[in-house]
Order: sequence, then C-alpha cells, then structure tokens
Amino acid sequence: MKFLKTLFNLALLVLFVASTAEARWSKYEDASVEVKFSNVNISVNKDGTYEVEVEQLVKILKESERSRFSPYSVIYNGDSADLTVLDAKTAYNGEEYIVTEDMMEDRLLAGPGESFDQLRQVTISFSKIEIGTEVYLRYKGINKKVPVGNFYSLSFSYYGNYVQAENTKINSKLPLEIKVNDPRNVLKIDEKKKNDVHSKSITFKKAVYENIINEPHNGILIIKHSTWVSLSSLSKWEDLAKKLAPGYHSVINQPLPATFTAIVGSAANKNTDEEKINAVTSLLNEKIQYMGDWRTLSGKYFLRDLEKIADSQVGYCKDFSASTSAILQELLAFPILKRYLIWIILIM
Ligand SMILES: *[C@@H]1O[C@H](CO)[C@@H](O)[C@H](O)[C@H]1NC(C)=O
Repeated sequence: MKFLKTLFNLALLVLFVASTAEARWSKYEDASVEVKFSNVNISVNKDGTYEVEVEQLVKILKESERSRFSPYSVIYNGDSADLTVLDAKTAYNGEEYIVTEDMMEDRLLAGPGESFDQLRQVTISFSKIEIGTEVYLRYKGINKKVPVGNFYSLSFSYYGNYVQAENTKINSKLPLEIKVNDPRNVLKIDEKKKNDVHSKSITFKKAVYENIINEPHNGILIIKHSTWVSLSSLSKWEDLAKKLAPGYHSVINQPLPATFTAIVGSAANKNTDEEKINAVTSLLNEKIQYMGDWRTLSGKYFLRDLEKIADSQVGYCKDFSASTSAILQELLAFPILKRYLIWIILIM
C-alpha cells in the first residue's frame, strides 16, 4: 500500500514537473520587436476629459512583425476624440525615412450602423520596413467626451513586448488613487502634488519582458505574477455604481417599443411565472441579435435607448438585461393594468 502511494505521488510529481517545465519566460531572442522606449504623457482635466501624447521607438527583430508596420494603423473614436500624428519616421542602416502627409490617411471605418459611434482609422505607410528597422511614432490624442463625468481611470500591464524603457507621466486635476503590483521590482513610482495638479510618474528600473512561451495553453500569466498599475479617481466600487445607476434606471423606465410590448402580450398569456420569464427571454432573443460591439463612447458603461435596441435589432449584454428588465417590469404591471382597463370600460 505504502509502495503504491509513493508510486502514485511520484507519478503526480512527474506529471506536475513535466507539464510546468514546458512554460518559461521569454528571452530577448524570442522577441519579435524591441520597444526601445515608450513615453506617454497624460493630462486629465477636472471633468474627466484628457489628452494623451505618445512617443515610441520600436525595433523590428523578426520577419513576422514587418507586416504590422506596413501599413501601421491606429484606431480611434471619431465622435469623442481627435488624433493627430505629430511625427513618423523609420531608420535603417543609418538612413532616415520620413513619413510625409501623403503617406498617411485618416478615414472612417465602415461601422455597424447609425446608433454606433464613428470609428476612424489612421493608416501610416512607413518606408523601409526591414528586420532591424527602427520605427518612430509620435501622436497626440484629445478625448473631448467621456462616458462618466468627473471620473478618470486607467490600468495597464506590460504583458507581451520586450520593453527597454518606459515612462508614463500623468498630470491630473482629479486626485488619483494608485494600485501597483510589482512582483519583480521593476517599477519606479513618483507622486507629487503641485497646486491643484496631482502627478504620477511610472518608470522602468530595467528592461521588462513579461511574456511566457511554450505553454500548452497559450500563455496565461495570472495577475499576481504580472506587473500592473491601476489608477482611478474613485476609491470604492460603490461610488462608481452611484455614477452609473441613474443611466440604467432611466433606460429601464423608458416607454416600451412596439416589438417589446408585443412580447409582454405573448408572455402574459403564459400560466406560471417561470413560463412567463422564459417566454420573455426567448422572444427577446428572437427579435434581437447579440452583437458584442462596444463602439459607442457610452457603450462601455451604459446601454442604448430601448427604442434604438429595438430598431437596430442588435444589442450587447447590457442591452439584453435592460430590455429584459423593462419588459418584465411592464409584465408585472400588466394584470393590474388590465383589471384597471376593465374597470374603466365598466364605468363608462
Ligand atoms: C512628456 O513631457 C515631458 C516634460 O515633462 C517632455 O519632455 C516629453 O517630451 C513629453 N513626451 C511626450 C510623449 O509628450
């Protein structure tokens, strides 16, 4: 028995060692690009709108990355932001290749329909994209509209690329809470407050390459072991919920579109509550297609109007839950309303 147990434990150990031995941290030789430096400046206004300026120098190390840079594209929400490329160029074998205006295009992306924001894409055709080419890009983004007012949050991790140097500076008129996970002690963080500006600076002490290769399931690094930074002008989830609740409440209480009223009618004929609820969810699912598309500024946090959901016949999870609630709410009022109507008819 003891022998069997030992054997079993040994087998487990072998299994364990064999499966974990496959994964390892990536090394420089594995990298397909090297981010030589990345500088990001963010300035946050009191109302939560913000400006970002980004400057990056990336060296192409592997063939597979060449296609990503010719052309290179940046996508932004044209309804809420402006994006301007300030400088773009490449360097190869001591020669510099400047990207001129005519090598850049800013155009509308074909979108899924009217009730979504217009996404725009800036396409930059860099020249001389070879292995060993260094690609420089500097751009500025202005975010003029935010979904939740007087609120700012940002979180980032460093998973993926080999990054030699990185520098994120945030100057904010809103006080920001910061949470940092730095298991390998690579970050240097400075915080300052001058007048009404709260500044945070996050820099690398050394090169960072947080990437796993040779994993059977494609490299998932649990949050505890990765380096990340999270910033928010709110310190409690409840405070965010307070900002979000009115938007949800107002949509759920909007008048029902005709297609949804029809669902109320059909569901009301069912006998039990369970049958009624099942009828609502399945009829709604027949009318509205799921589309996981968050292409509205407010779509990240809020839902669209019931009328828009019904008209477009597509919706994402928040739209589905709000529509369901609105229909069920109406259904709940239905028998009372019916009785009330009968009374009115009788009286008349
Ligand atoms: C960020 O701000 C610093 C000054 O604090 C400036 O030297 C640097 O060029 C800025 N970088 C970007 C990408 O805007």
